[in-house]
Amino acid sequence: MKVLLVGSGGREHTLAWKISQSPLCKTLYCAPGNAGIAQHAELVDIAADDVAVLVNFAKRQKVDLVVVGPEAPLVGGLVDRCTAAGIRAFGPSRAAAQLEGSKAFAKETLHRHGIPTGDYHTFDYVEAARAYVASLRPPIVVKADGLAAGKGVIVCNTKEEANHWVEVMLMEGRFGNAGSKLVIEEFLQGEETSILAFTDGKTIATMPSSQDHKRAFANDKGPNTGGMGAYSPAPVVTDEVYDKIERDILIPTVHAMNVEEKPYRGVLYAGLMIDSGKPKVLEFNVRFGDPETQPILMRLKSDILPPILGPIDGTLDQMQLEWDQRPAVCVVMASGGYPGKYEKGFPITGIEEAEALGEVKVFHAGTAERKGSLVTSGGRVLGVTALGEDLSGAVELAYQAVGKISFEGAHYRKDIGARALRR
Ligand code: AMP
Ligand code: GLY
Repeated sequence: MKVLLVGSGGREHTLAWKISQSPLCKTLYCAPGNAGIAQHAELVDIAADDVAVLVNFAKRQKVDLVVVGPEAPLVGGLVDRCTAAGIRAFGPSRAAAQLEGSKAFAKETLHRHGIPTGDYHTFDYVEAARAYVASLRPPIVVKADGLAAGKGVIVCNTKEEANHWVEVMLMEGRFGNAGSKLVIEEFLQGEETSILAFTDGKTIATMPSSQDHKRAFANDKGPNTGGMGAYSPAPVVTDEVYDKIERDILIPTVHAMNVEEKPYRGVLYAGLMIDSGKPKVLEFNVRFGDPETQPILMRLKSDILPPILGPIDGTLDQMQLEWDQRPAVCVVMASGGYPGKYEKGFPITGIEEAEALGEVKVFHAGTAERKGSLVTSGGRVLGVTALGEDLSGAVELAYQAVGKISFEGAHYRKDIGARALRR
C-alpha cells in the first residue's frame, strides 16, 4: 500500500524506519519529514498541520493509509477529513483528540468516570482562579487548557508564582487561545512514566512502559523541553502496576470515550504519576510520544503496520505484537541553547560510526540536507538509541554512540536512565 506519514521529528523518523520495513508498504511519503526520514520515504513539502493540502495530496496520489505523528493535525481534524475522503487514517478524530487538545475536557472526562487523577478546577476568570489559589498549599500546577507545544504547564512553588501565571494566561493572553481557559491542579508526588496503547475503541494493545526526561539538564534541572531522552521499560512499572494501569486507567478511558460519544481510535498515551504503586493521570496525549517512541519501537520485533491498521479496521483483537525483551535507551542530542534560542545549520558527523557499534540506531529529529551534507535544523537534533542486555548495557552503548557524533554546540543529558539504574 501507499502510506503517507505526517510529521518531521524523531518520532516520525522512528515510524518511517519501521513502516518502511513492513512488507505491506510499497511506497512511503512523508510530509514534511527530515534528512533521516528521507532515507526511507519520499519527502513532500507540506507542513504537518496543513490539513487541507495534506488531504488533497493523499487523494491525488491515491494514498491508502495516512499515519499522523503530531497532535496539531489530529486536533485540526485530519483523520476526519481523510475518512470522509475514503482514505484510512491512523489517529483519533478531532472530537476524540480533545483528550489532548483540551486539558479541561480531559480532566472532566476523568472525573466523570472516576478515573484516578489529581484534584483540579477550571477557570476563565482571574478572580475565581486567585481565590482558588489562595485555598491551596504549594506547589500548585497551572495549565493552559489548549495546545501550547509543551510550554503550557507550570509547576509553581509559591501562591505568588501561581497568581502570576494565572494573569499571564488569562489577562496578558501570552498563550493565545490555548490559555484563555486554565486548569489549576493538585501537585502529585511520585515517579512519572508513560504508557502507550493501541486501541480501536474495543480492544487495547498496550506497549511496554517507558520514561521520558522532560527537563533540559541533569538531575531534572532547568526548563522543560520536548524530552531529552527516554528508556523502555520503566522499572517503576512492575507487572502489578502495569496491570493496574490497564485496568484502572486505559480500559476505563477507552470506555469513557465511547460513553461520551467520542470513540477513541489510535494510540492513547497516558502520562502518569506512580505513587506507592498507585497510578494517577497527569495528562493524555493522542499520539505516540517523542522521544518515547524511539526506544519503544526499537523493541518492536513485529511489523508496525498491523497495529496501525487494527485501530482503523476494528481488528486489534487479532494482533499479536512481539517485543524484544532487551531494554532500549534514547539519548537526545540537542542544539546549544535549546529549549531557548539556538542556531541552525551546523554540520553533523559521526552517525555511521555510531551505528557501526551495532544495536544502535540514530533517529533524526531536527536535521536537514544542505549541499549534500547533513546539518542541524532544529532544537532536538538526534535521538541516539541503543538496545542492551540490561538497562545499564543499553545506557552505556547509547553514550558510546553519542561519543562518536559531533556538531557545534551539541548538548545532551548525561543521566538518561540514571533514576532507573539507582532502583
Ligand atoms: P503535562 O504536559 O500535563 O504532562 O505536564 C508536563 C509536566 O509537568 C509533567 O510531565 C510533570 O512533570 C509536570 N506535571 C504536570 N502536572 C503535574 C501535577 N499535577 N503534579 C506534578 N507534576 C505535574
Ligand atoms: N515526550 C512527551 C510527549 O511526547 O509529549
